Amino acid sequence: MRVLITGAAGFIGFHLSQRLLHRNIEVVGLDCISTYYSAQLKRDRLSILESLDGFKFYEEDLGNADAVSKIFGDEKPTHVVNLAAQPGVRYSKENPRAYAHSNISGFLNVLESCRANPVEHLVFASTSSVYGATQALPFTEQDGTEHPLTFYAASKKANELMAHNYAHLFDIPATGVRFFTVYGPWGRPDMALFIFTKAILENRPIPLFNGGKMARDFTYVEDIARGLESLLPLPPSKDDNWNSKSPDPSFSGVAPYKILNIGRGKSEELMRYVSVLEEKLGKKAIIDNQPYPEGDLQATWADTTALESLTGFKPQIDIEEGVSNFVDWYMDYFKQ
Ligand SMILES: NC(=O)c1ccc[n+]([C@@H]2O[C@H](COP(=O)([O-])OP(=O)(O)OC[C@H]3O[C@@H](n4cnc5c(N)ncnc54)[C@H](O)[C@@H]3O)[C@@H](O)[C@H]2O)c1
Repeated sequence: MRVLITGAAGFIGFHLSQRLLHRNIEVVGLDCISTYYSAQLKRDRLSILESLDGFKFYEEDLGNADAVSKIFGDEKPTHVVNLAAQPGVRYSKENPRAYAHSNISGFLNVLESCRANPVEHLVFASTSSVYGATQALPFTEQDGTEHPLTFYAASKKANELMAHNYAHLFDIPATGVRFFTVYGPWGRPDMALFIFTKAILENRPIPLFNGGKMARDFTYVEDIARGLESLLPLPPSKDDNWNSKSPDPSFSGVAPYKILNIGRGKSEELMRYVSVLEEKLGKKAIIDNQPYPEGDLQATWADTTALESLTGFKPQIDIEEGVSNFVDWYMDYFKQ
């Protein structure tokens, strides 16, 4: 396997790259080091990857079609994991064009490059946000995703549709993976755990929406990396069992295409997440109650039966262990 990972300097891309490199799998990383959050954090992740054998890196923007196509042509990856994206649900209201650039045009360039340089399997990041206004918990891959509440979710749903089409037209085996609130060491500074830890340590209030009464399926980043690793050697094929009169949206009879959830499979109230963090830090949070943000889902909860029956893998790290590992990393990284 020679795996091209876009977004390799990002949170999940870093963990997946590290995991594959430790198994002696060659990794070609691509990332533009966007400044949506600390470029230094991305460069620090990269310097760890660059110290490992088998890693090669390109600093490039997915929006640059010629450059992306040249990297694919030169490197000839057997597998591609597309993690590069403009993330964040709330920022997509402020700056939708950043999402159109990286998530839609950028992903089209990845698809075009897979068309010109056939790969055994394209795995690409989607999100639990695509479930949008659907409230059937836990979310299964068969649930409706036609009602996105944010432009971020719409851009990821677009990725799923684009990949289905390219899988059909050009026979590119493609698996879209819906991640559920990922956290852990080397995490993103725009996400709750990072924001809360920093604020508690600095004696500042933490913004808590709706009294902490929203629930998330918090998924530890190493579980995501393990799930992705287990999927790589399992490209989908067209499925004869697909009933075109009542089509299952999670796979296809006309394309080698599949959609899977990767979540811990538990829904935890945000207030409990905060309590686990307070306990680890040995310090109480000052709560700043805020109204419910428009576009955020009330609750998320992944049904991961499909992932487990395909790969035998089920995410297993609970928030007590995951939050503790995050805080240990945070203290060490910022020398607190
Ligand atoms: N972290 C989560 O909770 C979560 C949940 C659901 C889905 N996802 C998805 O998983 C993927 C990885 O997320 P993450 O948390 O690691 O985010 P991240 O921001 O840490 O990583 C994304 C990386 O992509 C790079 N990038 C952005 N635009 C690019 C472009 N045009 N060209 C090249 N590189 C570009 C960024 O510099 C960044 O390093 C994303 O697609 C995200 O939407 C993440």
